[in-house]
Amino acid sequence: MANYIIEGGKRLEGEVKISGSKNASLPIICASILNGKKTKLYNVPDIHDTQVTLKILRYIGCKVKKDNDKIEIDSRYITKKEIPEDLMHQMRSTVILAGAILGRFKEVTFSYPGGCDIGARPIDLHLKSFKKLGINIAENYGFIRCSCDKIVGTNIDLDFPSVGATENIILASVLAEGKTVITNAAREPEIVDLVNMLKKMGAIISGEGTNIIQIEGVKELKEVKYRIMPDRIETGTFLCAGAITGGKIKVTNCIPEHIVPITSKLEEAGCNILIEKNSIELKAPTRLKAVELKTMPYPGFPTDMQSIFGTVLSVSKGTSVITENIFENRFKYLAELKRMGAKNKQEGNVAIITGVRRLSGTNVKSTDLRGGAAMILAGLNAKGTTTVTNIEYILRGYENIDKKLNKIGANIRIEE
Ligand code: EPZ
Repeated sequence: MANYIIEGGKRLEGEVKISGSKNASLPIICASILNGKKTKLYNVPDIHDTQVTLKILRYIGCKVKKDNDKIEIDSRYITKKEIPEDLMHQMRSTVILAGAILGRFKEVTFSYPGGCDIGARPIDLHLKSFKKLGINIAENYGFIRCSCDKIVGTNIDLDFPSVGATENIILASVLAEGKTVITNAAREPEIVDLVNMLKKMGAIISGEGTNIIQIEGVKELKEVKYRIMPDRIETGTFLCAGAITGGKIKVTNCIPEHIVPITSKLEEAGCNILIEKNSIELKAPTRLKAVELKTMPYPGFPTDMQSIFGTVLSVSKGTSVITENIFENRFKYLAELKRMGAKNKQEGNVAIITGVRRLSGTNVKSTDLRGGAAMILAGLNAKGTTTVTNIEYILRGYENIDKKLNKIGANIRIEE
């Protein structure tokens, strides 16, 4: 288990280039199964989660060539329609592979994706939607076997605007017979990116980015070349790193309109934000101010930024209140921050944070992917040395975060 060692107290200054989006790459890599031809993807982040997804594609029979951020996938020779259990458990979002394999082959077998550190992560909405599409589902011994003669388009209303369920319905219905209408669909930008790629393949889809998405089934899909959008959560993470160190940073190769809730909360906390077409410049005040925030489905404040922003608020003047409305177990990082001198308490899905002047370095653990990123930011602020353990979580979703931080003045190194 590797650790990050961080010498805190350095003001971050300079420019950082954002990588491709993890949460757009994963469904888009899965979508390459659908055309039974070649797919060329650009700006794919080289992180654990994309590596695992590509490993599963190879396992089922795809030919995968990787050249840095360029990935070429040939899905002509797929022979297997089941996702191996050990790989299934390495990553939650492998469940969207099911929709892609089903969409093309009308059958798939996979195991229940384990819960994870931020909550139970049920897949009931996915399975309920598959059933509505005419897919038979047999569950036994922890395995789920889905099969049908054909997938017939239908109307599906989601109890919750689930990102994964919305993606799975789209992947399963682009080659279906007839039309599928999803109401209460998720509106996240990653879904728009997936749909843009599918439409380039020849899919007929409308309403992406709204809560009503319509998919008209087509007979087959074409070869495609597609560039993945920048990662909005990485963008927010680096802006918060600038904020928590009193720094001045410019984030380039990003899409500012994807993170309006974050930039407006940073402004409310006293930061100066300059927004240009594909870059955001942040100048932090000497002391940040407390704010209140609630996580919501897009376009609300993203749950993935909650622990990172909660860390910034730990050194802001006054008392902040955070309400986490999406996942039931996303406050574990608060206890780690307390070890660094932070003052906070949790009441159910609400965290009350009383800002302190500065944190102090010690050993803390990554509780999950975004909780781990939050510990890095805490270490950047803290007096002395901070050791962040279990960094495998962080490597799942951030490409070269240590190199990028050192380039703008941080002092962080990996200790194997
Ligand atoms: C996606 O997860 C993201 N992951 C998550 O990012 C993100 O936090 C989440 O969307 C919300 O924005 C990827 O895109 C790979 P959901 P997903 O289905 O699809 C409940 C990160 O850090 N739910 O929108 O799993 C669920 O329990 C990760 O990059 C059901 O009850 O999220 C949760 O409370 C973490 N039944 C809520 O909906 C279901 O069948 C939102 O989940 C599905 C979900």
